[in-house]
Amino acid sequence: MTNEIILELKNIVKNYDGKKQVINNISLQIKKGETIALVGKSGCGKSTLLNILGGFECVTKGQALFNGQEIIKPTRQCVMLMQNYGLLPWKNVRKNIEFAFEGIKLAQKEQQERTDYYLGLVNLTENEKTMPNALSGGMQQRVALARALVMKPQVLLFDEPFAALDTFTRYYLQDELVKIKNEEQTTMVLVTHDIDEAIYLADRIIILNQNSGEIQKEFQVKLSIPRERASADFQYYREAIFKEFQFTQEQQTIEFNI
Ligand SMILES: Nc1ncnc2c1ncn2[C@@H]1O[C@H](COP(=O)(O)OP(=O)(O)OP(=O)(O)O)[C@@H](O)[C@H]1O
Ligand SMILES: [Mg+2]
Repeated sequence: MTNEIILELKNIVKNYDGKKQVINNISLQIKKGETIALVGKSGCGKSTLLNILGGFECVTKGQALFNGQEIIKPTRQCVMLMQNYGLLPWKNVRKNIEFAFEGIKLAQKEQQERTDYYLGLVNLTENEKTMPNALSGGMQQRVALARALVMKPQVLLFDEPFAALDTFTRYYLQDELVKIKNEEQTTMVLVTHDIDEAIYLADRIIILNQNSGEIQKEFQVKLSIPRERASADFQYYREAIFKEFQFTQEQQTIEFNI
């Protein structure tokens, strides 16, 4: 991680169709190479925030910046990975990855080398000719990941990327992300409901508050990588984060009783 700021939110506010503010005065600076996890209850605005960073939604007030420039539309430098993988069913694994090069000028040799490299990085070299319908969910997500990586984006955005997968496939893919983080120094922003996933992957965990639309709490995860899920330190973060959620629940109950 460097000290250079790659993504910045300055006092942003977001409301849809003039209704209640989903995001209320959030400011955040993300450093190059940093991994951020966004957590919070359903409807608290995690996807909205991610969509603003990806250029899919605009802010109502404030500024969202990527390398100092206002984010106004999606770019190949800041790629979003969806939960449904978005693979083309009529193209095999290799062709799905190569689809990323569509519309950009890149020498054939470079395209081939990058595809080979990232197929290897996500452990799919032997499956390059397989069609998507013959792949498991975890493999499909790895193809989607390789397709994003061949573009060598500066930022990867993930909206609950592993939510549909079983625990062991999740663990495996989380390790893939750790590997990518080490090898590519890509900046990552990850929305997740899984607190362990957030602690395992993130340098910083941001908890959004559903009621106020603000950042409720921020945790700097000061654990060395690779992280040990069973360690006492890991447990410390888990408890601290759970406490945050209990706290808001108590608050809501009190308000409700009044
Ligand atoms: N396009 C839209 N138009 C109107 N309202 C929207 C739109 N997208 C989201 N919202 C509203 O904004 C709020 C935040 O939604 P968002 O999808 O960002 O939440 P989330 O934290 O990602 O939730 P989840 O964990 O369930 O995915 C919700 O109340 C939602 O109904
Ligand atoms: Mg969401």
